[in-house]
Amino acid sequence: MTFFWSSWITILSIMCWAAILGVLLMVLKYKPELEEDGTTGHAYDGIKEYDKPLPKWWLVIFFGSIVWGIAYWVFFPAIFPSKWDGIATVEVDGETVPWSSKNELYSELESNNKVFTDNFEQNILAKADASGATSTLATLADMQATMRHSDNPPADLQTQIDEKVADLAPYVEKLSENPNALKVGSRLFLQNCSVCHGSNAKGATGYPNLTDNDWLYGGAPENILTTLHNGRVGGMAAWRDQLGEDGIRAVSEYVLSISGNQPGYDLDQTKVAQGKVIFNEPTNCVLCHGEDAKGMNSTGAPNLTDNTWLYGGDRETIRETLRYGRAGVMPEWQTKLGNERIMLLAAYVYSLSDKTAQPAKAATATTEVPETVEATVN
Ligand code: HEC
Ligand code: HEC
Repeated sequence: MTFFWSSWITILSIMCWAAILGVLLMVLKYKPELEEDGTTGHAYDGIKEYDKPLPKWWLVIFFGSIVWGIAYWVFFPAIFPSKWDGIATVEVDGETVPWSSKNELYSELESNNKVFTDNFEQNILAKADASGATSTLATLADMQATMRHSDNPPADLQTQIDEKVADLAPYVEKLSENPNALKVGSRLFLQNCSVCHGSNAKGATGYPNLTDNDWLYGGAPENILTTLHNGRVGGMAAWRDQLGEDGIRAVSEYVLSISGNQPGYDLDQTKVAQGKVIFNEPTNCVLCHGEDAKGMNSTGAPNLTDNTWLYGGDRETIRETLRYGRAGVMPEWQTKLGNERIMLLAAYVYSLSDKTAQPAKAATATTEVPETVEATVN
């Protein structure tokens, strides 16, 4: 609430209390003149009015609610909420923080989560013969807490966290063979992932299929874990300005010529040759898609030689991709779901994936122009 509105409400409340207090004092001061028979002399329909004190129970409730109101002020951020935090506190993320509805929610989420994680350790990890993950998870949680609480975390902390996450890979592999873990994983998938990847995980345009063996960022358990923890952004720039429409058309033709679509197309071989040169310029496509155009897990650039397409493999869609660029965003899940649920999801995704013969990918980017290209240039 802004300072204005909190002041507005505070002032209205104080005015209201002052009015009630005024009425109370007035009533207390008022002493009616009594008749001889002890009545005030007022009579309504034959009922005479006495001047008797208010009943005890009523007074107790009345003053009790005033005390309650004052105590409420002290405990909670009730008056000038932007200035007074109240003395009530809750535990959030291992720290004692002032009560607020938000902090209370966080605190409750944490205790509910504790029920989940205890259950996860005792009923899932232990039964899948993966209890070894417990100590890694504890260290990981400590590191993440340090990261959250520090304004200026050590430079290599994120790397250490990423390494710890990767250490969970063998346990994810074990979970991926455990029916109980997969059942929970599939529920989590339906709740969190199916909006984008589909309830069968087969994806849609722009959203990769997770059940095949074609991976942007790698399909090993540690790659899936990293993808889920940190999220991914596919960065493919727009080439319109740099290559011009002719360049785009040429390089699209080349992409078609190397792709699995190629048999169905009547290709313009001049453009294919021109496109090949453009493709292989060291700072162009090879940089991310690799010398063999089979893509690279380190850049998230897809394999262009197969017939699996993220955005579409027809001539016009490829030109569209090149003209305007693409930037698929996979959100991060660490802060939303936590390490344990991510392990279950990674296990589920790994269990769905096709683990036969992953297409070979170049391990690192190349900046060398392949010889074949030089030959074409000459
Ligand atoms: C908002 C949409 C969205 C949601 C929700 C989402 N994803 Fe994704 N995911 C994507 C996109 C887009 C990509 C591809 C990123 C890119 O283009 O580089 C992706 C990529 C991935 C990859 C990497 C695939 C590869 O080929 O390397 C995995 C694994 C994955 N998602 C799993 C999940 C799981 C598990 C969940 C649920 C916790 C999830 N995603 C939720 C949009 C989403
Ligand atoms: C900076 C790295 C980088 C460079 C350079 C680059 N790409 Fe990409 N490319 C990507 C990434 C990453 C994606 C996936 C985008 C996404 O996930 O949203 C992609 C996607 C594509 C796609 C879509 C594939 C599909 O499955 O739909 C095509 C086609 C493509 N690139 C061709 C090219 C060509 C041709 C060039 C050279 C003119 C090029 N790329 C240069 C990184 C790059």
